[in-house]
Amino acid sequence: MSDLSPVSILDDGDRAIYVVTTRHQDSTSGMIVTWVTSASLIPERKRIVLVVSPHHATTQMLLQSRTFVLHQLAREQVHLVPTFGLFSSREVDKFAQLAVQLDDRGIPMLSGTCGWVRGNVVAHMDGGDRFIVLAEVDTEEVTANTQPLFVRDLAHTLPGEVLKQLEEKYHRDVERDRALIQTLTRGSRRGQDSLIPKREDPTAPCTTRAAAYPIGSDRRTLQRW
Ligand SMILES: Cc1cc2nc3c(=O)[nH]c(=O)nc-3n(C[C@H](O)[C@H](O)[C@H](O)COP(=O)(O)O)c2cc1C
Repeated sequence: MSDLSPVSILDDGDRAIYVVTTRHQDSTSGMIVTWVTSASLIPERKRIVLVVSPHHATTQMLLQSRTFVLHQLAREQVHLVPTFGLFSSREVDKFAQLAVQLDDRGIPMLSGTCGWVRGNVVAHMDGGDRFIVLAEVDTEEVTANTQPLFVRDLAHTLPGEVLKQLEEKYHRDVERDRALIQTLTRGSRRGQDSLIPKREDPTAPCTTRAAAYPIGSDRRTLQRW
């Protein structure tokens, strides 16, 4: 077994890498997502599901505006992974250095991608550490002759220092999510309502702090993201 072999059937480097962008009032935001799947067979009524963290600025904005653009990154756009996946839009303007156009709703559109879909949120479920967002696709465009970027490509295309930062962030996010789910489920009776934790206001920013986490050298980490 190679050292990159999955230790779980859920560790899958074959996921494509997307950037979801959105706008609410005067603010724009965007982040990397990989937990994306089709959610309808009907070609004229396409639906998708995104699994996103309530901590992220983009998630908060997306749930308020209920509209977004999902871009599939091309292989040569690997440099956009740290731009959109390492920092928060609360701290940096991720679009500042990019040639970005706005669609008719003012949502940033990235160029050079494999394609994009415009989505409208239909419903979301609060899973505690993650929101499961169901959206309908209203427009779609595919770029001919482009190759998607996959999670498995990251380990051999990003500089070692960036990979280290991504791995450190991954572990901080795990600890943050663990702390969040423990906070939300505390006090609920075992086996009763503990699977769907109660949150007063799903769009309120999360305040749970991440714990320090010792970083190993597990190269499979990114395949879980
Ligand atoms: C490879 C990779 C995959 C990711 N997949 C997801 C995902 O599916 N869902 C999610 O909520 N965050 C995901 N993230 C994390 C966010 O992209 C990241 O925390 C981002 O900085 C949030 O930015 P924001 O606060 O501006 O929204 C992923 C990050 C990376 C690097």
